[in-house]
Amino acid sequence: MFEVLHKDLLGRIGRLHTPHGVVETPTIMPVINPNLILVKPCDMAEYGAEIIITNAYVIYRNQSLREEALRRGVHALIGWEKPLMTDSGSYQLYEYGDLGVRNREIVEFQVRIGSDIVVPLDIPTPPFVSRRKALRDVEETLRRAEEAKTLVNLRDEERPLIAGVVQGSTYTDLRESCAERLSGFDIYPIGGIVPLLEIYDFRRIVDIVMAVKRKLPPNAPVHLFGAGHPMFFALAVAMGCDIFDSAAYALYARDGRYLTNEGTYHVKNLNYLPCSCPICTSHSVRELMESVEILASHNLYATFEEMRTVKQSIVEGSLWELCERRCRAHPALLDGLKRFAKYADFIEKYDSATKHPFFYLSEISAMRPEVRRFAKKISRLNLRGNVLITTSMLSEHEAEKRRYDHILIMKPPFGAFPEELSETYPVGQSEIPEDIEDSALEIALENVMKLINANKNAKFTVECEERWMKLKKMEDLREMENVVIVHR
Ligand code: GUN
Ligand code: ZN
Repeated sequence: MFEVLHKDLLGRIGRLHTPHGVVETPTIMPVINPNLILVKPCDMAEYGAEIIITNAYVIYRNQSLREEALRRGVHALIGWEKPLMTDSGSYQLYEYGDLGVRNREIVEFQVRIGSDIVVPLDIPTPPFVSRRKALRDVEETLRRAEEAKTLVNLRDEERPLIAGVVQGSTYTDLRESCAERLSGFDIYPIGGIVPLLEIYDFRRIVDIVMAVKRKLPPNAPVHLFGAGHPMFFALAVAMGCDIFDSAAYALYARDGRYLTNEGTYHVKNLNYLPCSCPICTSHSVRELMESVEILASHNLYATFEEMRTVKQSIVEGSLWELCERRCRAHPALLDGLKRFAKYADFIEKYDSATKHPFFYLSEISAMRPEVRRFAKKISRLNLRGNVLITTSMLSEHEAEKRRYDHILIMKPPFGAFPEELSETYPVGQSEIPEDIEDSALEIALENVMKLINANKNAKFTVECEERWMKLKKMEDLREMENVVIVHR
């Protein structure tokens, strides 16, 4: 039911098949609250929505909505004929306690009203609770997910997709085991992260998502519940999340907040509208301030624009660069990106081997999976005799260079590589600033040391400029027996 068309990092462009049609991912589902409509569902497609999400519990507990949904179906009730997901009311369960509705009842209701994606009544465990509670909630969430499967005729071609929600609070091992034990579902939402989003704890969110991704089949579609702010899309998609829901466009509008891909403005603090969407080019700041609907409309435009930007970067292979730019918007996002970089070995297994030129944009670029992959590949080189490692490829040294059996070029943050690789990705297709940080030079030296250690029988001459001489790693290099360092 899910096909992958393009990949970059763990992100992908995919196609999710539902009874009401195919959805291209990554995508965002605007949340439609039948009791509070700020943007008409029938207008959602104009913004770029391919699927929306509404709340089955909100419909169920209201007699007239419930009866209409049962009579005409949820699509007719909402006024949207394309794919539609229903949430179960778990979040209301989390906010208000006991709902007086059982899993079986709300799942059967979702099926009867013709939802395309049905969500069991999972238990959103808050962060930082006791392990015992988190474990108990995971067990019950798993039981309810299995029960949901028995309520759907799995052989029916027109059957709804069933979501297996991953819980486990802030315990990454519980997230892993929950993800591992959920199997045979059509889509895997990651739940219970809204409180972490509210406090901008992107580091923990990265740990949770990566724990889940480690255990889910790579081709399973993943939904990140509650992540509707466009500034987080690039990183979230890079981690392999395919589907998002946004109540944010409406909730933020109600508070007078204006969304952009690099954060939030209070409209009352705006003198100018930085966006060029149809709303912002035809309205004044005052009009946005005075109408929640108009502000919600801009928020939706900004949300879908960012998702298209993310998708384009997947196709061209520049998602990492986009993450580096977006994650400069807030220190907590930068922390999140650095945490993501710690998973470089895992990311590298799925990341494609060639892409858009490698742009070094900040010291975080040195942590990219490509640098890891390069270092691993290079340390497998088999070198003998006299080896020159030089930071310069100047031809005036040609004669001198003939004395060597191998000549390697040194390039931060990668390390040393044979001239034959100077056209290949990533090292030969990288744009590195002249004024690069010392940390990138240190990483290059570290990779050079790995290479030297793997070739103990060769003799190395390392030739570099003054600035390299002052690095910490240079001390270690100097102490190696088969190394001579030459100052250029
Ligand atoms: N909406 C936001 N978080 C959650 C969650 O954990 N589960 C469900 N079902 N819906 C949510
Ligand atoms: Zn706008």
